[in-house]
Formats: sequence, structure tokens, C-alpha cells
Amino acid sequence: MPAVVVLGAQWGDEGKGKATDQLGTATDYVVKFNGGNNAGHTVVVGDEQYALHLLPSGILSPGVVPVIGNGVVIDLEVLFREVDGLIARGVDTSRLLVSSNAHVIAGYNRTLDKVTERFLGARKIGTTGRGIGPTYADKINRIGIRVQDLFDTDILAQKVHGALAQKNPMFVKVYNRRAVTVDETIDALVRFADRLRPMVTDTALLLNDALDAGRTVVFEGGQATMLDVDHGTYPFVTSSSATAGGACTGSGVGPTRIDRVVGVAKAYTTRVGEGPFPTELHDAKGTWLREAGHEYGTTTGRPRRTGWYDSVVVRYAGRTNGLTDLVLTKLDVLTGLDKIPVAVAYEINGRRVEEMPDNQSDFHHAVPVYEYFDGWGSDISRARTFEDLPPGARAYITALEELSKTRISVIGVGADREASIVRHDLLPR
Ligand code: GDP
Ligand code: IMO
Ligand code: MG
Repeated sequence: MPAVVVLGAQWGDEGKGKATDQLGTATDYVVKFNGGNNAGHTVVVGDEQYALHLLPSGILSPGVVPVIGNGVVIDLEVLFREVDGLIARGVDTSRLLVSSNAHVIAGYNRTLDKVTERFLGARKIGTTGRGIGPTYADKINRIGIRVQDLFDTDILAQKVHGALAQKNPMFVKVYNRRAVTVDETIDALVRFADRLRPMVTDTALLLNDALDAGRTVVFEGGQATMLDVDHGTYPFVTSSSATAGGACTGSGVGPTRIDRVVGVAKAYTTRVGEGPFPTELHDAKGTWLREAGHEYGTTTGRPRRTGWYDSVVVRYAGRTNGLTDLVLTKLDVLTGLDKIPVAVAYEINGRRVEEMPDNQSDFHHAVPVYEYFDGWGSDISRARTFEDLPPGARAYITALEELSKTRISVIGVGADREASIVRHDLLPR
């Protein structure tokens, strides 16, 4: 039965939230499987705009069960602030379920994220400062705090004690800050325990049972392929698995159950934070793209770095994730350009390279080799079929499809839920 992964094929903010939301009416469960409130998904429904950070985008569709999987790191205060914000706007959040194995972000990890960045200076990652990296580090280091720990005061005290035995010498001796107390940490965490308890369940069992019963499950990735801790532009990445494999480890559903893996890519490229970005524009065209596409972060408000579509990156996302489909978003933003450059390969130290280099210095030195495609002048925001698009836009889509080696099944022509061209249904029937 349909299990579909939706994930980012570039450096994030491709429009995954909108893509997931669109599947809402035909979906039973939407599962967030990685990351935390470093994500920011904007979903526009008519006159209403929602900015989701921690909740799966499925929460906006009546009838969908939103699930926060074991692969997520949860800031409890942010979770309930987001839930309360939606309730105040009339959204029913009562179906939300949370994995007992998900990790929680303790206050000391938010602090650590910020001070580490400050100490890195010029070598900083440009994180969102939400404590994501340190919380995943604790998970891998086996000193993390899980959702289930909040309901056992003895275990919680032991774990917080153990974590602080490692952190406090660092805070005090390396970062010249005060030590964090066990009590203040526990108080901040258990404050939400009673409210959280009814949402907590064995989400892995639930999802496998749901698939057995023929239900439709959408796995919504946060961040993106190029920010994946294994496959992205390390160390300028997030600390979770944002690629297709992460949907399995982050939810407890096996790979043989996944039917489709959908990559979401913009018709150009953006990136927030530091790190290499070969097609980045530092000129007036870059500023134009930022303004035309409203490229400012949903989470931190930072201006996004902008550049042309990089087919080497999307092709890489294709093979890393085994993409079956692409959703190409924000085509409307390119309207009015005379020529549209697309990177088809890189030149690295005088050599033409067709595939993503596996050496970081090579990628830092990659100079894009561009092909230029004709633009179009007329407004495409009301196009609802491929044939509605002007010839230039159709040719651009066909070229990207060939270069990216994955079929483009959905084309975004505006932020609204309705503003899409569906060429192939993303949910197999
Ligand atoms: P996500 O993190 O991948 O969910 O993406 P974000 O929500 O951070 O950023 C994507 C932005 O583009 C949001 O403001 C969306 O409302 C908007 N958006 C999504 N698809 C389209 C599209 O096809 N056209 C336009 N103009 N905007 C879009
Ligand atoms: P969505 O889901 C874009 C970037 C940060 C930084 C790096 C590490 O909205 O696409 P972190 O706080 O995760 O340790 O920061 O990753 N980053 C994102 N960039 N979209 C996101 O999420 C991002 N989440 C993290 O800017 O460069
Ligand atoms: Mg985003």
C-alpha cells in the first residue's frame, strides 16, 4: 500500500511543506522522520499562511494523523507553542502522535549550539541555533534524553546527571560559562510531560500496522539531500539523515515498504547558512532571484543565498535517494527572464566533471558549466496543465527532466495549495 517519501533534493526550502500538504486529502498519516525545529515549512491555503517548524505538514489536513517519528529531535516548548498557535487558528491538532523513542532538546544543547558556533568563528556552520547538532551528538554518544524518559523521574534524573557530567566541565572550562544544574534542566523538561503523555505511542508499530491495513503514509523529510549528515556538503550540513534511508531509520518502517521517493527541487537553487554552492550568484541577478522568490528563511528570517538550477546536484539527489519523481517548484519565479542558465556539469581544475565530486576541495572549486535556455514572458501562475505553459517554460521543464534524470511529476506555479500542475499522481493507486 502506498508509502511515499517526500524530501528535499537541494539545500532545503524547496517547498516540501506545500508538496506534502497537497497530498493531504488522499493521505492517512504524515510522518516527520528527521530534524527538528530547524525546519521551516510555509503552507499557503487560500488567504491563510502557516509556518510549521516541528509539526508535519499533514496537520493542516482534516483526517490526517500527523506523526513525529523516532528520528526527530523535539524542543517541547516549541512543540506546544506551535500546537497552541494552530489551535488558536481553528486547526484540529488532537490526532498528533509522538514516538516514545524521539529525543528531546534540552536547554544545555541550545546553549551549546550557539556557543560552539561563536567559537568556530570564521569556520562556523551557520546553524539555526536550535540545539539540533548537540542533541543528535548526544543521541549518537548515548547520553541523549528520550521522550519516554520524561515519564520516569528516576531515569530522567540519572540521564540528565550523566549528560551534565560531560557538559558542565566544557561550559565552565572551555566556554567560560556557568554550570547548568540538574534541577533546572529537569524542571524545564517535565513541565510538558503531562500534556505530552497522551500523544506518546509506539509510532513504528502503528505505522507498520497502518500499512498492513492498506493506509497511505507520507514521510516528510526536513532539510535536504545536500544537508544530509552523510551525503551532503559535510561539515556544512545538518546533523540528521535527510535522505530516503532516513525515512526508514527515523520511523521504523522498512525500505521494502516504500513505494515512491519524491524529490522536491526549486526551478533554481537556494541555500541558508555557510558552505559551498557552485551556482551561487553574487550579483544583481542573485538579488533579483531573492526578491522575486521571497527567499528569506521561514525559521531564522535570514536572506537565502540564491543561484541557478544545478542539475549535477539534482542528479546526485536522484541516485542518493532512488528518486522516482520530482516536484519542481517556483517555476513562476523565473517568469520574465530572457535566458535561464542551468548548470549541466562542473569544471574542476581544468577538467569537466559530470558527477558530484566526492572530495570536498573539488566541490569548493567547482565552476559550473552552463547551458542557456529561452525564458518566457507571460504569467504562468494560473496554468494548471502542462499545455497551459508557454513553449519556453515547457522546453525548460523537458530539459531539466532530461538533465536531472528523473521525471518531473508536479510543477509549482505559485505558493497556494492549488497552484500546481500535476502530470503524474504521486500516490500510486
Ligand atoms: P520547505 O522547507 O521545503 O517546506 O520550503 P519553505 O516553506 O521553507 O520555502 C518554500 C517557499 O516557497 C514557501 O514560502 C512556499 O510558500 C513557497 N512556494 C512553494 N511552492 C511554490 C511555487 O511553486 N511558487 C511560488 N511562487 N512559491 C512557492
Ligand atoms: P527545511 O526543512 C534550509 C541549515 C542551516 C545550516 C545547517 C545546519 O525548511 O528545508 P542546523 O541548525 O540544522 O544544525 O543547521 O543546515 N538548515 C536548513 N537550511 N532549510 C532547512 O530546513 C534547514 N535546516 C537546517 O542553515 O546551514
Ligand atoms: Mg524551509
